[in-house]
Amino acid sequence: MDRYVVFGNPIGHSKSPLIHRLFAEQTGEQLDYSTLLAPLEDFTTCAREFFQQGRGANVTVPFKEEAYRLANTLTERAQRAGAVNTLSKLADGSLLGDNTDGAGLVRDLTVNAGFSLEDKRILLLGAGGAVRGALEPLLAEKPGSLIIANRTVEKAELLAESFDDLGPVSASGFDWLHESVDLIINATSASLSGDVPPIAGSLIEPGKTFCYDMMYAKQPTAFCRWASDQGAAVAMDGLGMLAEQAAEAFFLWRGVRPDTVPVLAELRRQLAL
Ligand code: ATR
Repeated sequence: MDRYVVFGNPIGHSKSPLIHRLFAEQTGEQLDYSTLLAPLEDFTTCAREFFQQGRGANVTVPFKEEAYRLANTLTERAQRAGAVNTLSKLADGSLLGDNTDGAGLVRDLTVNAGFSLEDKRILLLGAGGAVRGALEPLLAEKPGSLIIANRTVEKAELLAESFDDLGPVSASGFDWLHESVDLIINATSASLSGDVPPIAGSLIEPGKTFCYDMMYAKQPTAFCRWASDQGAAVAMDGLGMLAEQAAEAFFLWRGVRPDTVPVLAELRRQLAL
């Protein structure tokens, strides 16, 4: 049976084995997918050993940059992201590195939520790996403008400079912004500690602005609660992004695109337990 794993450290609570098992059942693909706890100091050896037999892998925190260096070839979006979340062994034994995180975000927004990004004013909060991974796929949707706002403004400026050949991207501090936007995406890790980036409530036009948190939790995240309190039209969490980035990886490996709708419903059901 074709073997796939997700590398991470820690990795015990990963939902990827469940997601890929459901995809395999749904599509009739024969594969085995499990977690693999790689040692913090030696991801590369662990990955090379796995790929003697293994066909593909997902990679999560903290190994995405190491996976980027391990890959023999990279997709354009992985190159831009500077990080790899999906490895695929090619026929000649070499490793292709891809990054499906940003595509998963865009698919969750445009397909699942039916929100077109074209010509929209988008505000991205944060300037870490999650934002770097999202920029190329977001700009490919041709937004009217994309502002990266971050606590450390210099990091937002560096990112904006490295992506400004792809579209209208600029950098900002949180407290410089007041005029409403169409979409706010929270990609800071502030939610992990129950915090919300300090942005003005006026950025949300009640009943119109769409808000998206890349994080998800059993209860609405702090950012989603804040957005709802300001009257956002929609406050959506990142569970769909998780399912969609997995579907993109499954497609890369198997050439079959699974239907994420029932899988997302099952993830939501299990999350509520
Ligand atoms: P990831 O890979 O998830 O993006 P990261 O690279 O560590 O993680 O980046 C975390 C992001 O969350 C950064 O943009 C960070 O801001 P700084 O660059 O100023 O450190 C942001 N962040 C973390 N905690 C935050 C908080 N309490 N308020 C606002 N921003 C926060």
